[in-house]
Amino acid sequence: MPVAYNESSRTFHLFNNEISYIFKVLENNQLGQLYYGKRIGDRNNFDHLLEMRPRAMTVCAFESNRLFSLEHIKQEYPAYGTGDMRLPAIDILQENGSRILDFQFKDFHVYQGKKKLPSLPATYVESEKEATTLEVILVDKLIQAELVLSYTIFEQMPVIARNACIKNLGDQQLVLDRAMALSVDLPDMDYEMIELTGAWSRERTVKKRKLEHGIQAIGSLRGCSSNAYNPFIALARNGCDEYAGEVMGFSFVYSGNFLAQVEVDTFDVTRVMMGIHPHSFNWPLASGESFQTPEAIMVYSDQGLNKMSQTYHKLYRTRLARGKYRDLTRPILINNWEGTYFDFDEDKIVGMATTARDLGIELFVLDDGWFGKRNDDFAGLGDWYPNLDKLPNGISGLSKKITDLGMAFGLWFEPEMVNKDSDLYRKHPEWTLETPNRHSSHGRNQYVLDFSNPEVVSHIFEAMDKVIGDSNITYIKWDMNRCMSEVYSASHGSNEQGKVMHEYILGVYELYERLITKYPDILFESCASGGARFDPGMMYYAPQGWTSDDTDAVERLKIQYGTSMVYPISSMGSHVSAIPNHQVRRNTPIQTRANVAYFGTFGYELNVNELDEQEKKLVMAQIDFMKEHRNLIQFGTFYRLKSPFEGNETVWMVVSEDQKQAIVGYYRVLQQVNSNYRRVKLMGLNPDYEYEVSINNTLNYGDELMNVGLITTDGSSGEPVDHYNGLNGDYQSRLYILKAKNQ
Ligand code: GLA
Repeated sequence: MPVAYNESSRTFHLFNNEISYIFKVLENNQLGQLYYGKRIGDRNNFDHLLEMRPRAMTVCAFESNRLFSLEHIKQEYPAYGTGDMRLPAIDILQENGSRILDFQFKDFHVYQGKKKLPSLPATYVESEKEATTLEVILVDKLIQAELVLSYTIFEQMPVIARNACIKNLGDQQLVLDRAMALSVDLPDMDYEMIELTGAWSRERTVKKRKLEHGIQAIGSLRGCSSNAYNPFIALARNGCDEYAGEVMGFSFVYSGNFLAQVEVDTFDVTRVMMGIHPHSFNWPLASGESFQTPEAIMVYSDQGLNKMSQTYHKLYRTRLARGKYRDLTRPILINNWEGTYFDFDEDKIVGMATTARDLGIELFVLDDGWFGKRNDDFAGLGDWYPNLDKLPNGISGLSKKITDLGMAFGLWFEPEMVNKDSDLYRKHPEWTLETPNRHSSHGRNQYVLDFSNPEVVSHIFEAMDKVIGDSNITYIKWDMNRCMSEVYSASHGSNEQGKVMHEYILGVYELYERLITKYPDILFESCASGGARFDPGMMYYAPQGWTSDDTDAVERLKIQYGTSMVYPISSMGSHVSAIPNHQVRRNTPIQTRANVAYFGTFGYELNVNELDEQEKKLVMAQIDFMKEHRNLIQFGTFYRLKSPFEGNETVWMVVSEDQKQAIVGYYRVLQQVNSNYRRVKLMGLNPDYEYEVSINNTLNYGDELMNVGLITTDGSSGEPVDHYNGLNGDYQSRLYILKAKNQ
């Protein structure tokens, strides 16, 4: 039983072969945190982990007892105002103006499996045996509020999923001002905090900082999870690297405003919290109402960052992503955006599709510009019917022409947005989020539809349904291109405005759910000006996301490397685009562009009719390569070997589950001269298998490749002659294919 409860010491111990998570009911009937980390044996009693010393200036709970102070006891879901001086996990405003809380242990349930979270994305199980859930019920008797803390431990993975649910069982009106999905107090501060930070076109850069006393936090108040900070942090032991050392990951399954906060007190206790950002959030809870937080996922690794990432990859790829495409290799697509922008008509699109089909591409994606009066970004959003000037046969006619070519057809939507110059806005100006009597700011000339209003969501569903129902569509790119401002919903009363940003995201999830239910054969790709909403919440609906608008191969090394910290290869939209690259104007060889884009869903984003014959041949070979290897790349185990953030070379690899095949991606940004001989130690191979190694044309045993290394020396070692497969110059790359012999 992976959840043990010891009645006499009132201790809960969640464990599997890899991890232990221990907490107990304290003397004051609240919950105290005892341990989170590598698996330890189950014992009757862990009370010795509760250290209490009298300290001056502390607030103590019991008369004549100077030991029991919430300031110094590690807690499970702390509140403010009864001794703990740090920021709390929960904050409830009561009718008399008080915010003091006392959630005391009442009961618990343990069951096999994992429940769905109503209206929210969450990890799931396919058989009840895969996980065990503990629900601890706490009650604040004075205000008759119930708090249910939920913990699901996965049997075969070092993973605990957590959430909290708050219910008003009393008569008074409560207002929930803060409700974290998780909180955990750790006994020391010897960690580096890792985060994925960035901006448009440079998403998910890996940043590390040593923990210091005080608060270090990341978050979003943009209405989407954002490209500034991904809803993820890790605490890595000092010295932890990719393959050694302890690290704890915290990832939030949510797509809106979030807070990931680490508060270190002056006794070096580290408190980690993750949840909906409390700013701009307040949730009136009338009698009988409840609030469910989204879920947060804790992953533990004692084998460095790679093991943490591999756990997230496996969990998110197989038990968060859903639907037909979860386990299917992804179609190789061509997207017309960088190839045409808004300047296209049916002939041009069919012309591109015909060439793409001849090259072996499987799916044509028509991006922005096909609807309403959309000839630039000033008009049309909201009017989801075809622009007949550009597409005289509409989407249904075009999609038929494309599918007649033998290709699948996909379409771009930006469901949540509206331009003022649109029929929808002219008819329903009250459907945008805007504050009465205040100026409304735009983003890319567009305004945000009020998805907290179910009527708006239904209207957009019907509009999309009409286009999809009339056409042969098997892929949708769902974009979202601005952050929110002046948020106020005309459909909500003045005391309910604090619900709007969360209800907006629930509206987005609702629309996704309705679409995937009605159209289970459609593959969704999420997008937000590139990767500004690349988060686990989206993965529940869309198994892949557009990683970044930056398609430059060199920039993509960093973006995809950082993204792989949490997200699987099968989730990363990655395309080969034209040169000079449209974001950084860099010229990289087409083979390097493909060698980077292979490590993702793979596709092209250029006008294939502008390729010369030589390039077309290369593209055909690339497509053949991807068709042969995409199963391994998208569903194999991914290892980061050399970081683009640390040097001139990036190396990563993917290994098949049976260890018989592997591909090593080697990327060298700048050409050097007379440089050292080079090797890179591989990972994840079978030490006893003998592998045929392409490029080097050698036979090497796995133990040799992992301990001695794969030789990657090239033409830059020695005099700069073109003797190494012609791979001289900047921005070169190679893929080493490893195949186990006689296996
Ligand atoms: C966003 C997306 C791009 C493209 C454009 C279209 O920027 O990230 O891929 O779809 O919108 O307007």
